[in-house]
Amino acid sequence: MREKIIDILKDNKESFISGQEISDRLKVSRTAVWKYISKLKEDGYIIQSVSRKGYRLLQSPDILEPNLIDEELNTEYIGRNIIHYSSVDSTNMEAKKIALEVEEGTTIISEEQLKGKGRLGRNWTSPKGKGIWMSIILKPDISPTEASKVTQIGAASVSKAIEEIGIKNKIKWPNDIVIKGKKTCGILTEMSGEINRVNYIVVGIGINVNLEEGDFPEDLREVGTSLRIEKKQVIDRVNLVSNVINNFEYLYKDFINTRSIKKSIDICKESSALLHKRVRVIKGDNIEEAVAIDINDDGHLIVKYDDGNIKEIISGEISI
Ligand code: BTN
Repeated sequence: MREKIIDILKDNKESFISGQEISDRLKVSRTAVWKYISKLKEDGYIIQSVSRKGYRLLQSPDILEPNLIDEELNTEYIGRNIIHYSSVDSTNMEAKKIALEVEEGTTIISEEQLKGKGRLGRNWTSPKGKGIWMSIILKPDISPTEASKVTQIGAASVSKAIEEIGIKNKIKWPNDIVIKGKKTCGILTEMSGEINRVNYIVVGIGINVNLEEGDFPEDLREVGTSLRIEKKQVIDRVNLVSNVINNFEYLYKDFINTRSIKKSIDICKESSALLHKRVRVIKGDNIEEAVAIDINDDGHLIVKYDDGNIKEIISGEISI
């Protein structure tokens, strides 16, 4: 209903539309219309209300409204059901609560997260209106051992989407997007499954879009950045999130149809921050130096040690 009211207000930007007309068109009471309009005002929509004339939309806030995103999507099912929140603890947590009941591709987006989760139990700073904090629910018919491939699809989708808005970036295997060495996006993939089948996968994507330096906790300012900081201009979040979703479906469908993530791996290799560089492979307290030489078809990093030994890294922390 909220979205329908926004659509009507947008279609009538040049003139006033009366509460009665909105209520007739949407077949709801005038009190209901008034409540929706009040909520929109609370959320930052600037709506002029004049008695006997009605309402006129003067300005829309920078919100990731599902209907705005929908207009820019070319997907079949990813992002076609968007659940949008002003604030949640974590979109991944919300996604996991509803994953079994909703259709595949359902996407949770929140303007802020109060307990955003990062990998390895870390926190993820998610200030209001400044980023893209989203989780995509997937139900692929694959074995749980393949679930991590979806992370590569996520990384490739985000990297391409950022490139599409004119910002060069690199993918730091397995799931970080970096600009000039500083992290601008992280991906947290979580799965529920049994021994040989996946119930659902939640791909949580956090992109630092319009954060300013002061939005980062002090200890992250050296290692984290945002698209706004790098491009020196405010970025259109609706356009960016739509690009991410469009790219994601293209690459995900290719994976489901071909059973291979070659298309995503090709993007991850082309834009890799690690390939052909000396890296440190960190496993707990153990740190080993090697050269990153490839990313294989399963999305695993191949490293070569100085003694000539070659090893496949499935997960873990890598630093340059
Ligand atoms: C990382 O540590 O690099 C992964 C960060 C993932 C953050 C995203 S933001 C949306 C989704 N919800 C969460 O709580 N985390 C992920």
